[in-house]
Amino acid sequence: MDHFKTILRHHYDRDAADVIPQQGGWSALAYKVISDQHSYFLKVYEKSRASTPKWTALIDKYVPIIQWLSCQTGLQGKLPVPLLTRNAAYKHEDDMGIYQLFEYIEGKTIGSQALSTMQVRQLAEIIAQLHLYGEEVPISTAAIKEDFRIPFAEQFREMLNEDIHRLPDDVSEIVKPFASILATRMNDLEMIAEELRGSEVEMKLCHTDIHNWNLMQSGQQLILIDWEGLKLAPVEADLMFLVDQPFLEEFMATYLKTHTNYVVNRQALKFYQIRRRLEDICELLEQLLFDEQEEEDRVGTIRHLKGELSKVEGD
Ligand SMILES: Nc1ncnc2c1ncn2[C@@H]1O[C@H](COP(=O)(O)OP(=O)(O)O)[C@@H](O)[C@H]1O
Ligand SMILES: [Mg+2]
Repeated sequence: MDHFKTILRHHYDRDAADVIPQQGGWSALAYKVISDQHSYFLKVYEKSRASTPKWTALIDKYVPIIQWLSCQTGLQGKLPVPLLTRNAAYKHEDDMGIYQLFEYIEGKTIGSQALSTMQVRQLAEIIAQLHLYGEEVPISTAAIKEDFRIPFAEQFREMLNEDIHRLPDDVSEIVKPFASILATRMNDLEMIAEELRGSEVEMKLCHTDIHNWNLMQSGQQLILIDWEGLKLAPVEADLMFLVDQPFLEEFMATYLKTHTNYVVNRQALKFYQIRRRLEDICELLEQLLFDEQEEEDRVGTIRHLKGELSKVEGD
């Protein structure tokens, strides 16, 4: 922890009495930092993780937008507050990792719990507020603008064609019956993507990773955290996380108070739903093909893969 204390002292001007590991998320390690009378949240993206470049490349682009949203809009108090380094940088970087410091949010992560009606309303208010803002905000959104690319398409096809023979027998048995529908879905997705690229679809700021592990209850307020995925995109990039929820009606009742004329863009919704499904399947196959997994994890991955494959037909 001394390494972190040194970083906090030299780059954030904070004297940390204690740095306590917390349960992290998918992308980074998490620590609670206690410095006289005040707590901070330190997120550490380790350079040893393959996913780190993907999660950190846009920090300098999205953090100023988060700051603007939390100072200039009704989202104040509903987002995490990022803190800058001594040199007013949005992150600190060294050989080991990339660091981001936030105000500590005293509260509880929703996690595996269900949202209460009140929480659904507050979530809908946050998303409705966020969707009021688009390209016109005073900070550049060019780097986070949706381009409807499918970065994993080539790898996906390769896995279905060549790598399928390298899959262990038990996995290949599961995947083979779906090979043709998966190829069809990828073609569908590319067609939809091309149409969306050519259309003048309206784009707003979107969080793009709405789930209960990214929601915290702090006092009376629900807070949406983890803004790594901030995009300028069709609002369906967010609404796709809500359409299958049991509380959709409650959510929309609140959302529509702000966006009275909202009509779902079916094509954009389909794009995000299929893209996410295929991306998940691609990642699961990648794990089974290339990662050295413990038996228990492997069983979990296979179960997850089966579940996703069974839903492809209905997409
Ligand atoms: N500012 C904060 N204060 C306190 N706890 C936080 C804060 N931000 C995140 N957390 C906790 O840390 C966990 C991981 O943070 P998150 O930003 O979602 O990281 P990841 O990108 O790894 O998913 C969250 O689920 C939440 O429990
Ligand atoms: Mg998270």
